[in-house]
Amino acid sequence: MKKQPGWALPNLKDAQVRTTKEAVIEKSLFQIPEQIRLLGQGKKYYLRTYGCQANERDSETLAGILEEMNFTAVEHPEDADLILMNTCAIRKNAEDKVLGEIGSLKRLKRKKPDLLFGLCGCMAQEEDVVAKLLETYRHVNLIFGTHNIHRLPELLYDVMVNGNRSVEVLSKEGDVIENLPVRRFGKHKAWVNIMYGCDKFCTYCIVPYTRGKERSRMMEDILEEVRILKAEGFKEITLLGQNVNSYGKDLHMEGGFAGLLEETAKIGIERIRFTTSHPWDFTDEMIDVIARYDNIMPFIHLPVQSGDSDILKIMGRRYTREQYLTLFHKIKERIPYCAISTDIIVGFPNETEEQFQNTLSLVDECRFDNAFTFIYSPREGTPAASMADNVELAVKQRRLQELNERWNLYAREKNEEYLGSVVKVLVDGESKKNPEVFSGYTETNKLVNFRRTTAQSGDIVSVKITACKTFSLDGEQI
Ligand code: 5AD
Ligand code: SF4
Repeated sequence: MKKQPGWALPNLKDAQVRTTKEAVIEKSLFQIPEQIRLLGQGKKYYLRTYGCQANERDSETLAGILEEMNFTAVEHPEDADLILMNTCAIRKNAEDKVLGEIGSLKRLKRKKPDLLFGLCGCMAQEEDVVAKLLETYRHVNLIFGTHNIHRLPELLYDVMVNGNRSVEVLSKEGDVIENLPVRRFGKHKAWVNIMYGCDKFCTYCIVPYTRGKERSRMMEDILEEVRILKAEGFKEITLLGQNVNSYGKDLHMEGGFAGLLEETAKIGIERIRFTTSHPWDFTDEMIDVIARYDNIMPFIHLPVQSGDSDILKIMGRRYTREQYLTLFHKIKERIPYCAISTDIIVGFPNETEEQFQNTLSLVDECRFDNAFTFIYSPREGTPAASMADNVELAVKQRRLQELNERWNLYAREKNEEYLGSVVKVLVDGESKKNPEVFSGYTETNKLVNFRRTTAQSGDIVSVKITACKTFSLDGEQI
């Protein structure tokens, strides 16, 4: 296919390069030239987000940019002039979903030939995906990567005014861009990025390539964002990073994530959460700060991935089963009411039955409050993808089912411990299924449904737990 000037296909090899060069913190890089500002006048956009919280937060920035360009959001793709997919590349099924969706939405172009399609996020950072999109998804007009979000106004101008197909993906380590607009999707809960990228290079994971190198925001910029959110009436913030424990390492600052967590707590916002924490560098100082501040929620997502030390080694996780368990019990000893959730991958290349049994026995020991479980999915360009694998898919599926049955058992047991107790719930609003029912989350991140009262969404109310299920609790406000 003819390559247009300016097209830069992403390159996973280049993305692996990590230098000791410090990331640049750009305070004024983003701007919308005057002739572009009115580009969205009278036009509607539909934005769909796939994947993790980092993508959710990026979508708030994309919405912020589009609305500064006078686009209006719509809820259905049928009503849109621009359809933008913010994509996820973590597993093949995530990618298949996006490709299926883009394929099926093509039909809308028949009724509206000027309809524009854009794709951004992690899939845009993969060379094979971009090559496939350019070749076979001819209706996609715009592709941009995770490092190019601030360029959206110019890229859209190129598509809408010059009529070009626009592709801009940089395989770079990444900088920090501070002055991007944001349209928060929630009124009471907000995501706050504290760092970007990941340098852990777990052997199965695509994220270090799609999101670039670990780079932290300045502490003062983060704290200022939290102060503003508090002043605007937000009740809960979640500090976001692929591995929040690494916060500040690149800035050579004292205190690291524990220090940031403590300073955030002192601002006095009602609820602080954070995600995700790698078990390798979860410090005693962090445990101490979480224990000391009432507004840091007693809930930790602590992905274990496998309960077998040999598999953990091949995964490049940097801890053994025993080290994980030591950390787990240390947290539970210091903060007994702390809820802990995890991520687990089954069917990593050549995982034996015995190694899988080690994962089950770790689940028996930890009795997690919640778990996200996956069948290993080879990701092009990662070390694990070139490992031979002798485990059949049917075996992997059986292991996943067995694992799910096991952790569900404990999740229910954990929920049963709440029966009769009174918990504080931050009200999200009407439950999706029934407007007479309100739902919200406890401090330990349990979903609670209770009969509608005069409470408003954003209120923190006391609820007595009267019944429990595997994934939620029922109660009455008191
Ligand atoms: N296959 C399956 N699961 C994966 N995860 C990350 N990469 C893969 C992969 N290639 C899971 C891990 C991680 C979570 C976000 O997704 O469990 O913690
Ligand atoms: Fe992926 Fe490992 Fe980084 Fe998590 S810590 S994003 S699993 S490489």
